Order: sequence, then structure tokens, then C-alpha cells
Amino acid sequence: MEQGLTLEGKRILLIIGGGIAAYKSLDLIRRLRERGAIVRAVLTAAGKQFVTPLSVASLTGNPVHEDLFCLTEEIEMGHIELSRSADLLVVAPATADLLAKAAAGIANDLASTILLATDKRVLMAPAMNVRMWHHPATVRNVAQLREDGLLFVGPSDGEMACGEYGPGRMSEPMEILTSIAAALQPTSQVLAGRRVIVTSGPTHEPIDPVRYIANRSSGRQGHAIAAAAAQAGANVTLVTGPVSIPDPVGVSVVRVETAKEMLAAVKASLPADIFIGAAAVADWGIEDPVAGKIKKERGSGPPVLALVENPDILAEVSRPGEGRPSLVVGFAAETGNLIGHALSKLQRKGCDLIVANDVGPGTGVMGGSKNTVHLISSDQQEAWPLLDKGEVARRLIQRFAGMLGK
Ligand SMILES: Cc1cc2nc3c(=O)[nH]c(=O)nc-3n(C[C@H](O)[C@H](O)[C@H](O)COP(=O)(O)O)c2cc1C
Repeated sequence: MEQGLTLEGKRILLIIGGGIAAYKSLDLIRRLRERGAIVRAVLTAAGKQFVTPLSVASLTGNPVHEDLFCLTEEIEMGHIELSRSADLLVVAPATADLLAKAAAGIANDLASTILLATDKRVLMAPAMNVRMWHHPATVRNVAQLREDGLLFVGPSDGEMACGEYGPGRMSEPMEILTSIAAALQPTSQVLAGRRVIVTSGPTHEPIDPVRYIANRSSGRQGHAIAAAAAQAGANVTLVTGPVSIPDPVGVSVVRVETAKEMLAAVKASLPADIFIGAAAVADWGIEDPVAGKIKKERGSGPPVLALVENPDILAEVSRPGEGRPSLVVGFAAETGNLIGHALSKLQRKGCDLIVANDVGPGTGVMGGSKNTVHLISSDQQEAWPLLDKGEVARRLIQRFAGMLGK
């Protein structure tokens, strides 16, 4: 965190949930105010068991909000006004309970009602026992909230108050402060008036009417890029293979199954200023998909599947010519020799930039919510840290806009 960072006049609504880490939120308030932020706080009933309203009010310099049905609070500053009058909502500690309520849209107390009523960005700083964090319900809720566009900081690994070890510790106040500063950055319209085509997801290559060849791509990174481009003011067409995640807001979606269909859809969507090939397009399809279901017949052995190379969408779009987008970006998902493979892909395909990511077993990148990417161009190699896919998308869009402007 840059010591000189100012949050002058920024209005933060801090929701303090019921976890041991609530004590750290007192320090967070102090640091926010030191940097000029105006802090209002909401304490859940459980939060009140860990820090007192008096401490919170003293540190924020504002009354603490606790009760949805408090007549005086509702008249002075009602829950809707409270949820909208901030620049950013921060939930710290974000308990498993608050995450679950927010993911399900439950609004049965002041904190959860505010989270449902707000039109502002929300930053969650989860804190809980490691088993609670790894519980499938929490994993589901966090994935849902990320998809809904909520931001996360932490949790970090470490020894817990309960004596167990693992992820679940709330991030330190300075780290939360850094995320708050990032979340407050305006989403500038750097791609206003530009046309962007993004491909995303896997392709399915049919073997017969019921079977296909596929890969583990979830479409999360490509969809996040399409969403970020739209937020940056671009006119976006997303050409997506079969995925189970929702369509990004403000984007025209074209659904395809095979690599051939994806190429046709991309060609039909051109011209564009930027083409971003984030889809995991199958390199090979079945030479001759069978019209009826292949039957397992005793003694005949398994069928022999002849593969043929699929069209190379990235190479086709990169081909020099009148209709070539000004910026063509490819993705390389590799399980080894990341930089070497990415460099050779850059040369082979003729694109301007490769976003390379290691999708080896254990990285959790394919299908996961985070990504570590390397940017490879003919004159530059850059390694980015592990980031949320939404954050990777926002940063990439800023970068692409900069490259377009050159
Ligand atoms: C000593 C103690 C510590 C707790 N720490 C946490 C915690 O760190 N994270 C969490 O999600 N729940 C924790 N809980 C459970 C929550 O307080 C409980 O789920 C509560 O209903 C959360 O309410 P809220 O989400 O409205 O704040 C703790 C409970 C106790 C008794």
C-alpha cells in the first residue's frame, strides 16, 4: 500500500459481521479515516458480540446502524439510503452466514437487506474457520457472489483463533485498504465506440449424436473479459461454446458448439477493433461424426475415431488484410514450458499478443475463479500475480485499450 494513498471524501459503508476478526475492522476504520474516508458502520447482532457499538461509533465518528426496524434510525437514514449513499460497501469480517445470505438474496436483517438493496460495488473480506471456508456451501456461495460481480479480498492462510491452520483468516487492514482503493477506481470508458469480439468456453466436437470431445474450460475468464470490455464502453460480441455460467451483462451473445461454428460466428461478427480469442477451441474434431449412436457390440471392440484438424480461428483472424482487427489477442493454456510455447504460438498465428496461463493439474485455473497470466508479445514478457479472473479481465482491458491507442 502506498503510504501517500488518499481516500479523501470517499464514503465507505462498513458491515461488521460476527467473527473474531471483527477486532481488525476497528483498525481498518482508523486507517480509512486517516486517509480521509468517511466511514459509516453497520453491526450485525453477532458482530455486536465481538466489538461494541461504542467503539465503532467512536472510531467512525458516526452513529452505528444495527437494527432494520429501528424507527429513529430508519427516519434519520433508512436502509435504502444507507445502501446507496456510500461509494463502496465493505463487509469485514464477511462471515459464512453473510456470504450465504448475500448469495441467496436473503434480506432478514439490516446488513443483508442493505447488501440486497445496494447499487454500489461490494467488497467482501471473508473470515472463518478453514472447514467453513472449504465447505461446499461456502464454495458455492463465493462462486455465485463472484459471478454476481462482488469483489473479494482474502482470506489468507494462517493459524486461526480456533487453533486450526489454513485459509480463513481475514486479510490484514492494510491489504483490505489496498483493495478498497482499487475498487474505488472509476471504470473508465476506455473502449467507448470500439467493437470487440471475444470467444469463450470450450468447443464440443461431436462423435455421434450423444457423445462429444470437450475440454475443462468453464468460460469464466472469457466471459469476464467480455463483461469488462462492455463496462469499458465497447460494443461486445461474445461467441461462446457450451458453458454453464450466466451471460455477461450488456453483451451480444452468440452460442456455438463446434470449432467450425465458432469460426463462422466470429467471421460473421467481424469487423472489430479488437479480437480476443479466450475460448479453448478443440484442436481436433472427429473426421466423420456418426449420424446414429455408435452401439457397443459384443466382440467388435472399441470404435476407432479418426481425428481431423479443426480450423485455426486465431490464425485466420490474425491473417494480414483489410478486415484484420487492429489488435488480435490469443490465449495459450499450457501445462509446461509456458513462455516457450506461448512465444512459438505468437509467431505461428501472427497475433499481436498472447495471454499465457498455466493450466497444469493443481493450479485450479481451468474452471476456477483465479488465474496467473503472462503477457507475451514480440518485444515484451510480463508476469502478473495470482488474481481473480474478474480483476485479470479489467486489467487486460485497460492494457488492450492502451495498445489500441498507440
Ligand atoms: C467465538 C465465535 C467466533 C466465531 N467466528 C466466526 C468467524 O470467524 N466466521 C464466521 O463466519 N462465523 C463465526 N462465528 C459464527 C457466527 O458468529 C454466526 O454464524 C453468526 O450467526 C453470524 O452472524 P452474522 O453473519 O449476522 O454476523 C463465530 C461464533 C463464535 C461463537
